[in-house]
Order: sequence, then structure tokens, then C-alpha cells
Amino acid sequence: AADRLSRIRNTLGAIPDFPKAGILFRDIFPVLRDAEVFKDLNEEIFEASKSYPDVECVVGLESRGFLFGPILAQKLSVPFVPIRKKGKLPGELISQTYELEYGTDCCEIQKGSVSKGQKVLIIDDLLATGGTMKAACDLLEKLEADIVLCLCIIELTGLKGKSKIDKPFKSLITFD
Ligand code: PRP
Ligand code: HPA
Repeated sequence: AADRLSRIRNTLGAIPDFPKAGILFRDIFPVLRDAEVFKDLNEEIFEASKSYPDVECVVGLESRGFLFGPILAQKLSVPFVPIRKKGKLPGELISQTYELEYGTDCCEIQKGSVSKGQKVLIIDDLLATGGTMKAACDLLEKLEADIVLCLCIIELTGLKGKSKIDKPFKSLITFD
């Protein structure tokens, strides 16, 4: 697993000054472009999920959580459910606003997509400030789901996003 993880780490992109000056943007897409490394990553995600038995649903966060969530859900033979940014999902919804650096954003989930007491694993590509993951937890709490794991591929530890999350949290790769 250690060599798989270092292969994934070494394949990630790092783009300076994107989307603005001073930000070193970690890019997941070079991993997806390499079929073998992408397989390694999906295997690592699956392995991480196995420490939390009885996962009954995988919830993915728009948009890059959608790249990994459905693959994990299929491996676990459980449903995949999306949390999307405001205005994208049809039907009856639950909404949650959250703080951004400047202003607020809002994410939504379809009512009835997760049931009370259901054991859910939330997945996203990256944890920065933790605002997005926290909002996802708050949404799922409104539905009375049982959040067994918040899983991110990349964690930017310097931003201390993990401290916002009061649920089990795991990341596969960290950067300061
Ligand atoms: C990125 C990333 C996470 C979130 C992390 O998504 O994929 O979802 O930001 O940031 P936070 O921990 O500070 O909340 P982004 O908002 O860029 O959306 P996208 O995946 O739709 O491009
Ligand atoms: N990479 C991808 N998404 C992000 C990043 C990053 O470095 N920071 C905040 N969202």
C-alpha cells in the first residue's frame, strides 16, 4: 500500500498560482489519465473503506467526489448519492449554506436519497478549509444519517480543515 500511495502522490499535479496568485493547486486529473495509477487509487479508497464495515451508502461531493464515489459504491454493492451545489438537483431537496473565503455557498441533497440511521461514507477528492465536507455532514445530519467516515484523497493540512469535522475522518495523502 505504501508504494501504491507514493505512486499516486508522485502522479498528482501541482500548479502554482491557480486559480489565483499564491495558491499551489493540487490536480487529481493526472492520476485519472494513468489507468494503472487510477486503479491503484481506487484500490486504496476501497481498502480505506474496509476499516469501516457495514457502509450502506456512498455520498459523493460535487464535482470531483463524483469521480471516485460511484466506483467505490459499486465495489461495495451499495447506492451512490450525490451532494450538489445549489440549483442542480431536481425534486424535493434539503439545503445547507456554508462559509467561503468571501461570502457563502449552498449545497443540496435529494430528500429520501438517504434514510434515517443509514451508515454513509462521504467521499471527496480534497479537503482544504473543510467547509464543503462540514456542510455535507450537516446536510446528512438533517436526514439523520449515520456518518461512518469522511474520506478525502488529498488533505491540505495547513488549513486545519479536519478540525471542522466532528466525524471520523481519513485522508490518503497529505500536503502541508
Ligand atoms: C474543491 C474540492 C472540494 C472543496 C474543498 O471543490 O474538490 O470539494 O473544493 O474545499 P474546502 O475544504 O475549502 O471546502 P470546488 O469547490 O473547487 O468545486 P468543483 O469540484 O466542483 O470544481
Ligand atoms: N486542488 C484542488 N481543489 C482545491 C484545492 C487544490 O489545491 N484547494 C481548494 N480546492
